[in-house]
Amino acid sequence: MKKFTSIKDITDINELLTLAKNLKKKPFEFKSFGANKTLGLLFFNPSLRTRLSTQKAAMNLGMQVMVMNINADGWQMELEDGTVMNTGSQEHIKEAAAVISQYCDIIGIRTFASLRDKVGDYEEEVLNKFIKYALVPVISLESAILHPLQSFADLITIDAVKTKIKPKVVLTWAPHPKALPQAVANSFVEWMRNSNVDLVIANPEGFDLAPQFTAGVKVLHNQDEALMDADFVYAKNWSSYTDYGKIGMALEHWMITGEKMELTDNGKFMHCLPVRRNVVVSDGVIDSENSLVLQQANNRTYAAQAVLLKLLQDEK
Ligand code: CP
Repeated sequence: MKKFTSIKDITDINELLTLAKNLKKKPFEFKSFGANKTLGLLFFNPSLRTRLSTQKAAMNLGMQVMVMNINADGWQMELEDGTVMNTGSQEHIKEAAAVISQYCDIIGIRTFASLRDKVGDYEEEVLNKFIKYALVPVISLESAILHPLQSFADLITIDAVKTKIKPKVVLTWAPHPKALPQAVANSFVEWMRNSNVDLVIANPEGFDLAPQFTAGVKVLHNQDEALMDADFVYAKNWSSYTDYGKIGMALEHWMITGEKMELTDNGKFMHCLPVRRNVVVSDGVIDSENSLVLQQANNRTYAAQAVLLKLLQDEK
């Protein structure tokens, strides 16, 4: 593995899953593997789980970690080639990526969607430019359209909890007052399509995800119908892909409540967090024993650790 930006970068999902499960049992088995190696984590956007779990993963492998909030603490970055940089931006991504590569053996980068430029977002403009100019492997800490470390942790969670060979997994849109990217949802669909689950997506009309991710997946615009007999309910808001970046109005009834969970087969509740309580999900559901949100957060460490270990192993 030379980079980790989507499921397409891994050759064997089951091998990576087994590695993560083994690391969860023995987190320090490869404690010396990352000795004298440095992980750099660059955040263009806020983070709690990704930031801390990826640092913990690297520390479990004996790596050193440097973290930078690049928007707040770095120079304003120029992305375009050939720009006369005589106004705003002070540092070109070409130098920035190559310079950071002088200090780090692996670089993680978080760069959210603009939600203004659909083409630029879906071409992963910032991430791909960074990869182009970096001299070391790059991992996505959530990009404009994907969040693979989250989806891998979600897969680890489902694998650990499932009681059926092929559980029914429902990804359901949920309300939110602000425009959010489609990254978590796109990525979850990508990983579930490559796993042995019966995946159904529920979202209101006008909120279908990009066809490149959902081709062949059952999409329902009736949430109750989708939730029927579900084993796992993964709630997430995303803004419109078709009317790009627009939020849903008067859709509060899409919130996941105890009544909705009654439709499921004793379904487990999942969310990547952070979550707006009593907007996305009721207190009763997220605080119930069927809520897996803390397991998901815990598994972020082992997802990141498996990916970092693979990159270190493949570098040797
Ligand atoms: N789920 C997730 O990526 O959380 P953070 O945004 O806090 O990193």
